[in-house]
Amino acid sequence: MSIFAALQVATRGARQSGASVPATWYARRAYSSSTLGVEVFNPSGEKRVVVTKMLPGTRWLDILTKKLGARVEVLTDERFAPTIVPNSAIVDLIGDQCDGVLGQLTEDWSAETFNALKSAGGVVYSNYAVGYNNVNVDDATAVNIAVGNTPGVLTETTAEITAALTLAAARRVVEADEFMRAGKYLGWLPDLFVGKLLQRGTLGLIGAGRIGSAYAKMMVEGHYMDLVYFDKFQNTKLEDYMKGYSDFLQSQGEKGITCTRVDTVEEVLSVSDVVSLHPLLDKTTHHLINEERLGVMKEDAILVNAARGPVVDEVALVAHLQANPNFRCGLDVFEDEPLMKPGLAECKNATIVPHIASASLWTRGGMATLAAQNISSFLQGHPGYDSPDMIPFVDGDFDSMPEACPSIVNMDQITR
Ligand SMILES: NC(=O)c1ccc[n+]([C@@H]2O[C@H](COP(=O)([O-])OP(=O)(O)OC[C@H]3O[C@@H](n4cnc5c(N)ncnc54)[C@H](O)[C@@H]3O)[C@@H](O)[C@H]2O)c1
Repeated sequence: MSIFAALQVATRGARQSGASVPATWYARRAYSSSTLGVEVFNPSGEKRVVVTKMLPGTRWLDILTKKLGARVEVLTDERFAPTIVPNSAIVDLIGDQCDGVLGQLTEDWSAETFNALKSAGGVVYSNYAVGYNNVNVDDATAVNIAVGNTPGVLTETTAEITAALTLAAARRVVEADEFMRAGKYLGWLPDLFVGKLLQRGTLGLIGAGRIGSAYAKMMVEGHYMDLVYFDKFQNTKLEDYMKGYSDFLQSQGEKGITCTRVDTVEEVLSVSDVVSLHPLLDKTTHHLINEERLGVMKEDAILVNAARGPVVDEVALVAHLQANPNFRCGLDVFEDEPLMKPGLAECKNATIVPHIASASLWTRGGMATLAAQNISSFLQGHPGYDSPDMIPFVDGDFDSMPEACPSIVNMDQITR
């Protein structure tokens, strides 16, 4: 059983035991004229909120059913369980009366879905993600629908998988694992899976925001790497941190490290042993890494992408991996998810995982809490939250949670 499935069972067990939500709230029904399978909580709730995938934990459900007092319907239809929910099913799920939707980053939230929500009387949508490139915010704003996201709880978790991909790629962990399992290990050899040492190398960042900074700290402090970064904005907090860390190293009699902001992507690529991508996905970052820029990188460099797939031209990357066996990459995201470009799966110098960067139990529960709180607070007329610290929502006492929407990205353009 997967850890998520185990969590679902645990969560349901808690609910059924009455710890959080009375067992009588469980019911299955077909919605509208469709045959969609949904799970209903608090059926007599006045407002109606729909959720396109079952989420971990119970706090999010308590927020919607107890704080908001809403009827909550979660799409549990087995046809969509392992995959992306199509627009037709989302529109069907919304039906003719729906106040808010909690949806996934894999879904297409644009005119069709927002118009359906508007027609059903809906005023708020929250993405279950910090990134919201799957949401056309202008389309939502055009019909006065607020759009929420879940910043502040993915940072360390995503940084950790970025570090994991970096190390796995550098030291060829997956290749070596496959070799072992295939029974090919016949004894220690001087040249068996020789990889790349990161200590005192150069770490390149494209995008030095929350996740980029957290990852940089892990890598610089763990491996004494020099840091080079490119971002539209100077990150003085990160620079000050690195200066302090370098001073500390020197106070211990060790060589310091450097932190340099450069003016071009190419400057990062040409000097770095590891390049990690952490910008948001927009027109300026689509195919930011292309054939030409791959050609600027060191022949044995490591490229890591845990941001969004289309930041890298994946066809060009496959060709580069094929032509440069010492070049390695670690990918959490792909251009045409859930598909990979032809040839990638056969590249032994690529470490590939299925978009699991935020998949720690704490983070996934926290994301659910923030998304639910965006919807609940917005529907209760609460204001936006004015701090980046999301812990009071996620880990604080349930009854003293701030009465605010954690993150509504178009709050200023919405009329209430
Ligand atoms: N793989 C996953 O599961 C996962 C999880 C969380 C976040 N993400 C992705 O990571 C991205 C970053 O998240 P964050 O919380 O660090 O966001 P953030 O807003 O804190 O940081 C993004 C940084 O990118 C910079 N940037 C924007 N355009 C740029 C450009 N053209 N060139 C260079 N830098 C540019 C911004 O100035 C900012 O510093 C998200 O937008 C999301 O797409 C992926």
